[in-house]
Amino acid sequence: MNPSGNSRDSTSSAPFHMIDLIRKKRDGAALDAREIEFVVSGAASGAIPLEQLAAWLMAAWIRGLTLDETRALTMAMRDSGEKFSPARLGKTAVDKHSSGGVGDKTSFLVAPLAAACGVVVPMISGRALGHTGGTLDKLEAIPGYRTALSLAEFEAVIQKCGCSIVGQTPALVPADRALYALRDRTGTVENPGLICASILSKKLAAGLDALVLDVKTGSGAFLRSEKDCEFLAALMVATAGAAGTRTAALLTDMGQPLGRAAGNWIELVEAVELLRGTRPAEGPESNADLRELSLILAGWMIHLGSQADTPESGYERAETALMNGSALRIFLEMVDAQGGDARVFEDADAFHRPGATEIFEAWESGYIAEMDTTALGWAVQRTGAGREQAGEPVDPHAGILFHARRGAEVERGQPLATLYATSAARLEEPRALLRKAILISKSPPGAAVALVSRIFTRENAEKFLQDAVR
Ligand code: URA
Repeated sequence: MNPSGNSRDSTSSAPFHMIDLIRKKRDGAALDAREIEFVVSGAASGAIPLEQLAAWLMAAWIRGLTLDETRALTMAMRDSGEKFSPARLGKTAVDKHSSGGVGDKTSFLVAPLAAACGVVVPMISGRALGHTGGTLDKLEAIPGYRTALSLAEFEAVIQKCGCSIVGQTPALVPADRALYALRDRTGTVENPGLICASILSKKLAAGLDALVLDVKTGSGAFLRSEKDCEFLAALMVATAGAAGTRTAALLTDMGQPLGRAAGNWIELVEAVELLRGTRPAEGPESNADLRELSLILAGWMIHLGSQADTPESGYERAETALMNGSALRIFLEMVDAQGGDARVFEDADAFHRPGATEIFEAWESGYIAEMDTTALGWAVQRTGAGREQAGEPVDPHAGILFHARRGAEVERGQPLATLYATSAARLEEPRALLRKAILISKSPPGAAVALVSRIFTRENAEKFLQDAVR
């Protein structure tokens, strides 16, 4: 053993063998940067067989990654393909990424909102992961929308519209493309180091000046304890900061789906309704949380992108762009520029053709006391909105529309949700999951949960990490 705990001399030029690195991680030792680069380049090129990558991911999931390993994994994944250089665009490049949620469609709002306020947004997103939906799967519900663009096409769309939303490709962050799909199939999503590397590799490959992270907390988050979510937020802020990207992370509530819709097409429709300046729905169906969180995140993007002195004044600028239609115009222009048929938004109901529809009703009167949002997310995926195997198509029309929020008083027989499934046979499992996931109590629940519970910037993130690893 050398002093860093590695069982091998890291200066040696002997070839690496994946089996050794799996056993090393399995036995709890830390890999050095060159070993991590070997794993990442083999993932990106396909040279390492999937069963070995899967075994290594599971070892990393169980043993955890050190701060040095996380940093090395993030940078190696960032460097696994081509990188985007936004400098030629002549504006500050800013983005937002979420740690994964149910009904989380803020990307469709914040990208055009921030672009309308003077920054550019080169957004590299992902597909459905575990119980959470994927921005790319949702966008592909628009006929013709292309999520795999070359770097030249990506730049041209941003030049024209101020923002572009694309996915990883064999050229752009290929290591995340491979590992993301594998984690989804092998139960290795919920690990702070793996999440940090996955998110930041995409964001840093986009050459961002600034980044806002939305770290979900509560029953629908990948990491369940508040402490783990804080650790992930601090880890990402410090790692991105060290790589030269001004970053803030907001811990936000995922104790219930965000907004009303969770699925593919229906999420886009909800986002576009708000971009039209429509006031959020009121009462038990309110989607005011979606509007509010989108404006808060956009406010931070505009602030970190130096277009507002404070996040609050960024919020005000974003709200103006929402209400005057400029963000909607940018969103529709982006759809068009990426090959999508934006006319489908003109009659969203006519376009929506689910295979089977069912109303899910309250089975007793009372108050919605709790929602197991992870189970609700699986219910959404099982309608056909998600995939069982990597590469499978998803059903753009599938998903769930929620009609009651946490805390709402409901009567027996009142609709709690509308299920849209690929076929009648795909209604059964979501129905059973919903019945288990929603708790109706006789007494009203306690105090409302804050939408944003904590904010990390570089200063408090580094201190938090030092204390956490001490
Ligand atoms: N989003 C990502 O891009 N990766 C993760 O691992 C989780 C959320």
